Amino acid sequence: MKKFIKLVGCGLIFASSLAMAQTPYTDDSTYQGLGGKEGIKKIVDTFVPMLLADPRIKDSFADFDMVQLNVRLQEQFCEFAGGPCKYSGKYRDKTMDGVGTVRDMATVHQDLKITNAMFNALTEDLQIAMEQHNVPNSVANKLVAKLAPMQRAIVTK
Ligand code: HEM
Repeated sequence: MKKFIKLVGCGLIFASSLAMAQTPYTDDSTYQGLGGKEGIKKIVDTFVPMLLADPRIKDSFADFDMVQLNVRLQEQFCEFAGGPCKYSGKYRDKTMDGVGTVRDMATVHQDLKITNAMFNALTEDLQIAMEQHNVPNSVANKLVAKLAPMQRAIVTK
């Protein structure tokens, strides 16, 4: 009987450590609220054309690869929302061995002469895109709150 209890105990410990290994993100409620990877893709697919149509900011994007930007934004939003993604673009942890150019958000945006008004315009577009995909306000506000601290790095004008 003792052996049986030990066996069940070991089994339980093994099963729970497996479960923990498979769920490394303790709080992915924002990610789930955005609809996971699929939901984030839909939001970004709406958001990027809005940027290109918004007279307040569209000129900034004229010379850039919007397909790549779309992918990078999906990765970044997913990561910030607590999802199982890693932003693989120009913004890398400086301690990582980056392949290719290692730049941060400030460097990525430094030549673009971005004003507070432009930053706010982009945030507004993102909020509208999330609304169009029925993201609850509480979830949308959480993503925006994650992006807000970047304002100081991105706004240079
Ligand atoms: C919360 C605000 C913002 C976030 C989170 C953000 C995020 C990003 C990301 C992830 C990239 C991709 C870099 C890469 O390819 O790896 C990027 C590039 C870019 N962003 Fe932003 N951005 C923000 C604000 C803005 C604003 C306000 C503008 C202009 C109105 C802007 C214009 C651009 C442009 C033109 C690029 C392409 C740069 C390049 O490919 O070298 N961004 N941004």
